[in-house]
Amino acid sequence: MNQQAFPQDFLFGAATSSFQIEGATDVDGRSPSIWDQFCQEEGRIADGSDGRRACEHYLRFRDDVALMHKLGLEAYRFSIAWPRVMPMGVGAINEKGLAFYDQLIDELLSRNIQPWITLYHWDLPACLGDQGGWLNRDITQHFAEYAQKMVARLGDRVKNWITHNEPWCVASLGYRQGEHAPGLKDPRSGWIAAHHVLLSHGLGMKAMQSERQDLNIGITLNLTPAFAASDSKADREATRRFDGSFNRWYLDPIFKGCLPVDMVPEVEEECGGALDFIHNGDLALIQQKLDFLGINYYSRAIIRGDEQSEGQTSRTLHADPADITDMDWEVSPDGLRELLLRLQRDYAPEALYITENGAAYDDSPDAQGRIHDARRVRYLEKHARAMQEALKQGVKLKGYFLWSLFDNFEWAYGYKKRFGMVWVDYETQTRLPKDSALWYRDLIQQRIIP
Ligand code: FCB
Repeated sequence: MNQQAFPQDFLFGAATSSFQIEGATDVDGRSPSIWDQFCQEEGRIADGSDGRRACEHYLRFRDDVALMHKLGLEAYRFSIAWPRVMPMGVGAINEKGLAFYDQLIDELLSRNIQPWITLYHWDLPACLGDQGGWLNRDITQHFAEYAQKMVARLGDRVKNWITHNEPWCVASLGYRQGEHAPGLKDPRSGWIAAHHVLLSHGLGMKAMQSERQDLNIGITLNLTPAFAASDSKADREATRRFDGSFNRWYLDPIFKGCLPVDMVPEVEEECGGALDFIHNGDLALIQQKLDFLGINYYSRAIIRGDEQSEGQTSRTLHADPADITDMDWEVSPDGLRELLLRLQRDYAPEALYITENGAAYDDSPDAQGRIHDARRVRYLEKHARAMQEALKQGVKLKGYFLWSLFDNFEWAYGYKKRFGMVWVDYETQTRLPKDSALWYRDLIQQRIIP
C-alpha cells in the first residue's frame, strides 16, 4: 500500500461556524441574525429547532479548545458572528461581543492552534436583512467596513482570513431556492445576491489589505465537479450548465475578472433582462489577488439532462447508490482529486486549502460510551488518499479542515444531521470524541494515513 507522507507543514485542522455552535444568541449585546428570524418561521427547520443553545460554545470555549489540543489540531477555522461584534451591522463595535473572539483567539494561540477566521458564514445581522440583505448594493460597503474593523482589532494575532463561506449557498439557497435564510424563491434575486457577495469579497479584501499587509486572505467556495451521465447531447449540455452556474460563475470573476460568457444568455433569461446589477468596474474589483482559495468539498454531481429540453433541465444521479451519507450525498473521493487537478490547471491559485470536508452519519455511543463511526473513518481515509494523489501530481494543496469539530446545528436540517468528529449530547452538552477523531489525531501526528 502506498504510504506517501503528508508534508510536515501541511496544515490539519477542523472547522465550525458561529451560528452552528455558539448558542447564547441574546447575550452581551448580540443582535438577532437572519437565521434567528428564519428559525422562528413555521416549517423552515426540519426539527423545529434553532440556534439559541446549539453547542453552548460561547460558554464552553475554553474546554472546547482544550479538547482540540487533545486531538492534536494544528488549526481551527471558525466564523465571527457579525451581529455579535457589530449589532447595528455598521458603526460601533460591541466590545463585549468582540471580547469573546479575543479570548477564543488567545486561548487557541496558547495551545499552539492557528486561528483561521471566516468573516461571513451566513448569520447576517437582521437589521441589514431588513434593508434587503444581499439584494441591496449598500451591503457591499457595510461588509468591507466590518471586515476592516475585524482586521484592525484581531489582525495582530490572526493572519489567516476567509472573506466568505460558500457564496453559491448564500445566493442560491437563500434567495433563489428558499431553503436558507432569508428564504426567498426568486431566480433574479439569486443572481443579484451572488454578485453582491462577490463584490463585497473584492471590496472587503481591499479594505483588509489597507489595514494590514501581513495577512493571508482568501475566499471559500463550495465546488461540485460535474460529470455527464453519458455522452448524449442533453447530458453534456446539462453538465455545462451545472458547472457554469455552480462553479464557474464564482471562479471566473474571482480569478479572471470576467463572467463565464457561455452562461450569460441563460442567466439573462432567468433574470428577465440585462444583468444591470453588475456595474462597470465591478468585475475588476472582484478580481483581487488571492493568497489562497478555500474549497469545501462534499460530493460530485453526475448530471442527466432532460432530452426534451435538450439539457435545459436536469437531475443529479448517484453512481453508487449504496455509498451515500445521511445527507444523501454520494461518497466520491475521485471527485475531490479531479476538482483539485482542474483548479490547478484552469485557475492556478497561489495555494489551495480544503476548508471543509466531511460526512453526516448518525452513529451514537455504545454501552461503553464509544462511538464507532466506521463509515466516517472510511470517508476521511478515502479523501485523504485523494489529497495525496493530487499532491503527487503537483497540486498546491497546503492544508485540510475537517467538517466538523462537533455535531452541530445543520441549518434547515436542525440537529438531525451529525457531521462531528466529536459527538454532542445536546441535553447535557457532553462531548465525546468519536473513533474518527482518534483516527484523525493519529493522522496528524504520524503524517501518514492510519
Ligand atoms: C457547508 C456549510 C457548513 C455545513 C456543511 C455540511 O455547506 O458551509 O456550514 O453546513 O455544509
